[in-house]
Amino acid sequence: MDEIIVADDTLITSKTNLKGDIIYANSDFLKYAGYTTKEILYKPHNIVRHKDMPKAVFKCLWDYIKQGNEIFAFVKNKAKSGQFYWVFANITASFNESKEIINYYSVRRAPNRKALPIIEKLYSSMLEAESKGGIKAGVDTLLEVVNSHKMTYNQLILHLQKNAR
Ligand SMILES: Cc1cc2nc3c(=O)[nH]c(=O)nc-3n(C[C@H](O)[C@H](O)[C@H](O)COP(=O)(O)O)c2cc1C
Repeated sequence: MDEIIVADDTLITSKTNLKGDIIYANSDFLKYAGYTTKEILYKPHNIVRHKDMPKAVFKCLWDYIKQGNEIFAFVKNKAKSGQFYWVFANITASFNESKEIINYYSVRRAPNRKALPIIEKLYSSMLEAESKGGIKAGVDTLLEVVNSHKMTYNQLILHLQKNAR
């Protein structure tokens, strides 16, 4: 196991440049990830990537935010210690006055614990699909589940965070 449970009053935030390198991380980020600012500044954000996360989740994330759309996601992150922590994240693009994207921002809080078994099951089926058919197979698995609920991806994820019980 070795999970670090994110406390209810926590907001873990970070900003990245257009490549996904960390340009800002707040104190809760440093606390849960177990790094100092010096260790993570200008490093790629996959520094906290956990192997249980399907690649397709991050593909969707980047597809959404590069188009200027927000995305919600349940993310299992890896701390420097090797422990993990689950978060419910909202990631958005920031724009300059010419409407060009200048950076990305993520705000994370404690996930609804009742949603996690559902997400774990989904992610493990996506990982299995990816091991056979690559990222596309992972995306297809995700879309199948999303479509079966007659919701958009973000609607389903928000629904799980708000209503899973
Ligand atoms: C603002 C922002 C926040 C991100 N936060 C995380 C995060 O908390 N955990 C994570 O694994 N990836 C996060 N990512 C996605 C990473 O950039 C990367 O796509 C992901 O870790 C997969 O990396 P890889 O496929 O290069 O190994 C974030 C990206 C952005 C733009």
